Amino acid sequence: MSPFVMVIFGATGDLAHHKLIPSLFSLFKDGLLPSEFYIFGFARRDISDEDLRSYYGLEDDTLWGDFSRHLFYQQGEFQDDAGYLSLIKRLEKIDEEMKSCVTRLFYLATPPDNYNIILEKLSSTKLSEGCGQGSSKWTRVAIEKPFGKDLETAQMLDSKLAEIFDEKQIFRVDHYLGKENVQNMLAFRFANGIFEPTWNNSYIDHIQVTISEKNGIGKRGKFFDGVGNLRDVAQNHLLQLVAAVTMEQPRSFTKEDVRDARAQAIQSIESVSEENMADQVVRGQYQSYKSEKNVADDSKTETFVAMKFFMSNERMKFIPIYARAGKKMEKDIVEISIVFKQTCHILFKEYGCPEIGNVITIRIQPDEGIQMRFITKKPGTRLSLEPVQMKFAYKDHFEKKGADAYEKVLMDILAGEQMLFNRTDELLSSWKFITHILNGWEKADLPVYVYEDASMGPQAAHELIEKDGRKWL
Ligand code: BG6
Repeated sequence: MSPFVMVIFGATGDLAHHKLIPSLFSLFKDGLLPSEFYIFGFARRDISDEDLRSYYGLEDDTLWGDFSRHLFYQQGEFQDDAGYLSLIKRLEKIDEEMKSCVTRLFYLATPPDNYNIILEKLSSTKLSEGCGQGSSKWTRVAIEKPFGKDLETAQMLDSKLAEIFDEKQIFRVDHYLGKENVQNMLAFRFANGIFEPTWNNSYIDHIQVTISEKNGIGKRGKFFDGVGNLRDVAQNHLLQLVAAVTMEQPRSFTKEDVRDARAQAIQSIESVSEENMADQVVRGQYQSYKSEKNVADDSKTETFVAMKFFMSNERMKFIPIYARAGKKMEKDIVEISIVFKQTCHILFKEYGCPEIGNVITIRIQPDEGIQMRFITKKPGTRLSLEPVQMKFAYKDHFEKKGADAYEKVLMDILAGEQMLFNRTDELLSSWKFITHILNGWEKADLPVYVYEDASMGPQAAHELIEKDGRKWL
């Protein structure tokens, strides 16, 4: 890999601290970074390079010293030129020393309200152009979610990006696309001839997708209270999981073909109509949420959302998809279940068919793997049926652990590989669906159900699925 400069805006924030820097360090330890690279943390605090190096609290690792020599700090207010100009000087010096235009990556890891001003400044100070003045081919920009607040603001942000960068320079990050078992969906579904023929509405009864997190919002109140889980997790991660199990086979594994297939899947998610909103979408807030730091006393922000929706494509039409995402839940679990129609043959009816038949469950985390439930004959002299599980666990089968999602995200950005990053069309389609819900909630003033901490969400979320004669698995 060629030398690079990475500028992390928001270097003292949560994302840089807990994800970006640890992932870069891990890539370094695995020998995956080039010998020459420079990471500049850009933030408001008045601290030194040394302060930044100790800020992340990783000094106990013997290799931290070697890695942190590559780490520098640039103080700056996002709205003032000064920080950017001083950074330009420092980067020019690197280009001089290296006698080349070192590729520059700008990683926007700040709260989203800062994106516009940072992009404007990158452009007005010409930092976005890199050292090949007038040509921006030496730069890339990575932008974290939430990408906008609704369809309109997402469109505005996208236009702003497009004014400054070419599409091939833009990396709209959704780290769920970098999770091993999400990437595996293409192989699992399309490299195995036995699943594909049944992966459609003739055989599938319904699909469930769950992102359940034990943690509450922790110290992120300031960010989260104005955002909510629909925007923070559902618009991106949850819908990407839906896309992974519903998309058509891409024409090829090229970047654009895979992005086309993903975008088509998201485009075909049908918006929930206003009259069905109360029936098909439930929002909730965990009991102790209002006592979290930086949360308004009368906050109506949802920390949980459950929804039922359909897709319009031939393959998936009429299959109900139940998807939920919540914080402060009973357990940490991210999984997708494909529940097949229970067709227990008439032969077996008198022996009692289990209520649910075949289910393929794709576990994204923890313990990533896939399991398949099927019905078997219980041992014994009499015929009786029972469902059992056939399991594949990554950790049992593969010695080497896959890359963490952020390691994959960073490696791909550094390599200029965009397949696992959102393209404008998929992003805007997901926002269209989500904005419909946001507007519906506001218009009808639908309730925000309080749910107990460490539970699986409000009762209304159970009713959402149970009224269709089904259950969350
Ligand atoms: C982030 C959200 O994008 O994803 C967080 O902002 C959420 O609120 C996190 O907790 C979940 O990611 P992971 O990889 O821990 O499942």
